[in-house]
Amino acid sequence: MKFLIGLLHRILIQGNLGIVRAWVAPLCYYWIPLGLFVYLMVSYFVGDLEHQSEELGNWGMILFFVILLVKPVMQIFPKFRIFGTIVGLRRELGVLCMWFVLTHGFGPMLESELWKSENFLPLLAWDNYLLWGIVGGLGMLILGITSNKVSVKFLKRNWKRLHLIIYPVMIASILHVIFIDIEEYWMYAVLGVVYVGMKLWLWRKKRG
Ligand code: HEM
Repeated sequence: MKFLIGLLHRILIQGNLGIVRAWVAPLCYYWIPLGLFVYLMVSYFVGDLEHQSEELGNWGMILFFVILLVKPVMQIFPKFRIFGTIVGLRRELGVLCMWFVLTHGFGPMLESELWKSENFLPLLAWDNYLLWGIVGGLGMLILGITSNKVSVKFLKRNWKRLHLIIYPVMIASILHVIFIDIEEYWMYAVLGVVYVGMKLWLWRKKRG
């Protein structure tokens, strides 16, 4: 019991993720994306692509909200250093989130045959979940491919401006799932409101 409390204290309060931290970058950049790609290929050729795709979408969404919420939560609860540790890993987690979303969208994109006008035109309705999924997916692609030192150096001050697209990406992702099934996914809309609320509260606090 004492060991467990000590471990929880080290992880939550001291934010010490130990060896896990050193593994996060290789896991997020290579091994998990590789695993996702294999998973996708196996589901495409022998498994149930639709079911696997939904699973990847759910994981992508959870990861996306962890990345969004962790910074304001860290600012509100500075005593728990674990949030600060996760904030330090946001770049890696963001890239991982992009891979989840891209592999999630691959199957539906292939099946919906959007290059045919009879499939493409219905997409342009404001309440079409696929439209919002594609908007969110494209936004995540932009965020993911610019989440590295080279892009920060190259884009300079514009990097921060570009990464403000996280807000429209969040809205598009929420609309995507709300239009699929509001009863199942209302929680994400609540989390979106909580996120904006926390940001506004912190902003007002900073201004005094
Ligand atoms: C890349 C473009 C995207 C496409 C083509 C796409 C397509 C789809 C499709 C066809 C479904 C299944 C709908 C149904 O059950 O009737 C789905 C579900 C879902 N998508 Fe996406 N999506 C995309 C992007 C995103 C993004 C950006 C997110 C947010 C991170 C996301 C999260 C989800 C979630 C959570 C589900 C529900 C999974 C479930 O039913 O268990 N998708 N998406």
